[in-house]
Amino acid sequence: MEGTRVFIGSVIHSRSLNYLEIIDDALVVVRDGRIITLDKADREQEILQSPEAINCEIHRLPHGDFLIPGFIDTHNHAPQWMQRGLGQGMHILDWLDKITFPNEAKFEDPAYAQRVYASCVAGFLRQGITTASYYSSRHAPATKILADECLRQGQRALIGKCNMNRNAPDYYRDESVEASVQETEDCIAHVQSIDPTGELVRYVVTPRFAITCDDELLSLLGSIAKRDNLSIQTHFNEAKQEMKATSQLFPAFKCEADLYEHFGLLNDRSIMAHCCFMSDYELEKFAALDVGVAHCPIANMTVGGGFMTAPIRAFLDKGIKVGLGTDSGGGFSSSILDAMRQALIASNAREVATKGTDEGLSLEELFYMATLGGARVCRFDHKVGNFEIGKEFDALWVSGNVSGVMAPCESEDSTRTVFEKFLMTGDDRNIQKVYVRGVQIK
Ligand code: GUN
Ligand code: FE
Repeated sequence: MEGTRVFIGSVIHSRSLNYLEIIDDALVVVRDGRIITLDKADREQEILQSPEAINCEIHRLPHGDFLIPGFIDTHNHAPQWMQRGLGQGMHILDWLDKITFPNEAKFEDPAYAQRVYASCVAGFLRQGITTASYYSSRHAPATKILADECLRQGQRALIGKCNMNRNAPDYYRDESVEASVQETEDCIAHVQSIDPTGELVRYVVTPRFAITCDDELLSLLGSIAKRDNLSIQTHFNEAKQEMKATSQLFPAFKCEADLYEHFGLLNDRSIMAHCCFMSDYELEKFAALDVGVAHCPIANMTVGGGFMTAPIRAFLDKGIKVGLGTDSGGGFSSSILDAMRQALIASNAREVATKGTDEGLSLEELFYMATLGGARVCRFDHKVGNFEIGKEFDALWVSGNVSGVMAPCESEDSTRTVFEKFLMTGDDRNIQKVYVRGVQIK
């Protein structure tokens, strides 16, 4: 059993939106990166005495430690790593002009991109984000560097060059539709060449949002996504300021759902970020087309979004896929734990605002969105998101036994209690080890 690891201890994962499975004394066997056994530890002797068990690594988790699936960040701007937290108080389009575009323009320099992306990917892995859906800058060379960096550091990722051929400054705009498409094709070819099976890194078609793309570009991007069966990501009904500008630029469409659908960009491969303002018509369309939502609760209530909460309860009630996004830098934090907490607070605020109609989110639902829900949105759920047998072992070894800010674990605490303490008060110091495909990368 070379390349085999056995974990004995507590395991927590989502089986579905409302079914959080907690197994105390679990036995997890990982071979060649895949989970081959998830059982009770009373089979330990039988497994460890088998002839194949020679040379396997055995890890025993003490009381207060547990395994969870790696976090999935469904919406993240890698080039905004350096500007996180800046420009609070501005509305989205002003923030893009004043803070974001000047910052992202720096990624024209590949040496700068290399330095920042190495730090960004390492930083997100440290937060336990084993899968991320990244927007790069508009530059093809920097986008390729980001893909290389994810592969080198072992992070599962969707990576897309931002397409933006209008309504952006001269110094930070795709030169023409042809150039934008050609650079996109270059990036797709690069990502496919470094990981031909798409096991770890894949390209995601990334029109920044409709405001920065003209009809022809949107249409060509829709065709490329269809041709290569690629995921698609953009910003959707994020803020009133953005929605007004979009409807002025595209008067033929009565809403953003119709707009993106028209250009072939709204389907079961779409990852729509924010979705703060949703009509019943758009909710129905998302459900019918199986569109995924990247819920970015921090950005939604700060600079990246519309100072709004999003109708997450309505999405879940309709069976619409929802994951969490840090949206850093529109969101100031790179921690999925912070995103879960803010999603909780936003949902409670919404419960009050809707007089109880939109019930607040449970811990089970929040954790599901951070793991299996996010994997579904990014179309990695056949590989990761929970510890189903046959899936790849993307996991976090969490410890409630380290000193930090987390409410300390006590000897009588149940696994559920330590888990709740971690979700609400823990941080990256409690994430002791990070595994992707069974390989420890932190
Ligand atoms: N809309 C278009 N670009 C962006 C961005 O970088 N961040 C956020 N939050 N919204 C956007
Ligand atoms: Fe964003």
